[in-house]
Amino acid sequence: MKRTSNILIVAALAGGAFLASCGNKGPHHRNPGKIYVPDMYESRAYEFYSARLASMKPVEGTVKRGAMLPYHLKAEDTAQANLVRNPLVLDKAGLDEGKRLYDIYCGVCHGQKLDGNGPLYKGGDGPYPLAPAAMLTGKVMGYSEGRIFHVITYGFNAMGSYASQLDIEQRWKVVGYIKNMQNGGKAPAAAAPAADSATAAAPAVAAAH
Ligand code: HEC
Repeated sequence: MKRTSNILIVAALAGGAFLASCGNKGPHHRNPGKIYVPDMYESRAYEFYSARLASMKPVEGTVKRGAMLPYHLKAEDTAQANLVRNPLVLDKAGLDEGKRLYDIYCGVCHGQKLDGNGPLYKGGDGPYPLAPAAMLTGKVMGYSEGRIFHVITYGFNAMGSYASQLDIEQRWKVVGYIKNMQNGGKAPAAAAPAADSATAAAPAVAAAH
């Protein structure tokens, strides 16, 4: 009899201790005691968009690392544009990229043969009503690299600007490709002068060795 009650008492105490430990569990876990260097346990909250830490526009005039300097001439500055030289020295890969971009962005109108007769025009039968300029005959033959770059940047009459589709480096690659084709696929030693400016000096685009 006595033995049984002892067992019951022990069982009751053990059960109580167990329940008590359950009750302590929460607070115990929330308070892990002292922390050495708390920043290493709990990282500081980083709120995007708060305190203007992120998503800020770069300072005006910022040039992305590796990007080319911006083109400052205005649409009407054609005389200066004639004098601008291609800052890129294009190797075969550069010219190939120029051709790829030309075929995508210019070829539909100006033709992949650069004859001014792309699928949109089709000798007048296409949906595009205006004759695009030929690149290998006529006045564009006399255009300097800078002038062609200027036309791509600002458009010309009915032709729109391609500045939003092609960044500066891509535009110069297209120009390099056109100039290279004007020279029969060879790197021009000295390119033709611009037709409308006696002062224009069109530079050579070096091709691959
Ligand atoms: C949607 C058709 C179209 C596309 C695409 C197009 N052009 Fe043109 N482009 C024209 C037309 C049309 C003209 C003739 C405009 C005129 O003489 O009034 C022209 C004229 C030109 C001229 C001669 C400008 C001048 O001073 O007479 C050049 C150079 C030229 N384009 C280059 C390009 C290049 C490079 C691209 C690709 C980046 C391109 N074009 C894309 C339609 C197009």
